[in-house]
Amino acid sequence: MGDQSTGWLPDPMSTFAGEVDTLFYFTLYVSTIIFVAVMAAMVYFGIRYRRRSETEVPEFVRESRILETTWVVVPTILVMIVFTWGFKVFVDLQTAPPDSYEITVRGAQWFWEFQYDTGVTSANELYVPVNRPIKLRMTGSDVLHSFFIPAFRVKMDVIPNRYTSVWFEAIEIGTYQVFCTEYCGTNHSAMLATVHVVSQEDFDAWMVAQDQDLPPAELGERLFRQYTCVVCHVDTSVGPNLAGIFGSERELTDGSTVIADEDYLLESIVNPSAKVSSGYGLQMPATFGTMSQKQLDGLIAYIKTL
Ligand code: CUA
Repeated sequence: MGDQSTGWLPDPMSTFAGEVDTLFYFTLYVSTIIFVAVMAAMVYFGIRYRRRSETEVPEFVRESRILETTWVVVPTILVMIVFTWGFKVFVDLQTAPPDSYEITVRGAQWFWEFQYDTGVTSANELYVPVNRPIKLRMTGSDVLHSFFIPAFRVKMDVIPNRYTSVWFEAIEIGTYQVFCTEYCGTNHSAMLATVHVVSQEDFDAWMVAQDQDLPPAELGERLFRQYTCVVCHVDTSVGPNLAGIFGSERELTDGSTVIADEDYLLESIVNPSAKVSSGYGLQMPATFGTMSQKQLDGLIAYIKTL
């Protein structure tokens, strides 16, 4: 919340967010004025010209050309203003500048994954340089999601088997909230991400840091946090608590038992329906099966340390 925030919209933080707001407020104020005027006139006429007796017959009224012309012409002009203005803003929002930096976004149950031109991927943390147009090319792995950054005034459905896109140019360094705004299952409300708008230098430094070969357990810790494994697997009843799980004996829904070794952990990540722990439903989506072997090795190494 800052100087320009209105209490119900976050500060406009992209190049076109201000114009989106101006158009929105223009439409809102004009509609409010017309609504109040029409309602007031209706109530006034209802009282002023009400039927006063059973036998009352109203006077014959001749139409007023001027009045009728006015109420056709004025709304037509207003609607045309909103249409042409809205069309211009719509085209701006749909047309990414040709020099945009492209990032691929994947929406999955229940995380957002970002892939950069260097091959680096991150989950639920989107880093972008400030004052540079960014184009997001988005697709989904499973069901419908919707990618929404309120501060930038961008929102677009994310759909399996096809690409949609949005673009924006952030005007101020900071962190901004991303929401999923299409109900997509159990953890829809936790399908959040953060946009980190940083300077070009910080962006380059971040990219280099991502590329480094981390020790497997450290990579795993980062992934565990980024892919929000923590939501279901630490101190909740949604999924089994993973602390101390490695090497322990697990009872499965079919009554059999299994030792939680590396093979079991791997299988449970890529194919969660294979062996479901007793006391839990099959809530975990199979979306993590797309992780690379290196990422999976890291996750297992990290789980062993818990
Ligand atoms: Cu993804 Cu809601």
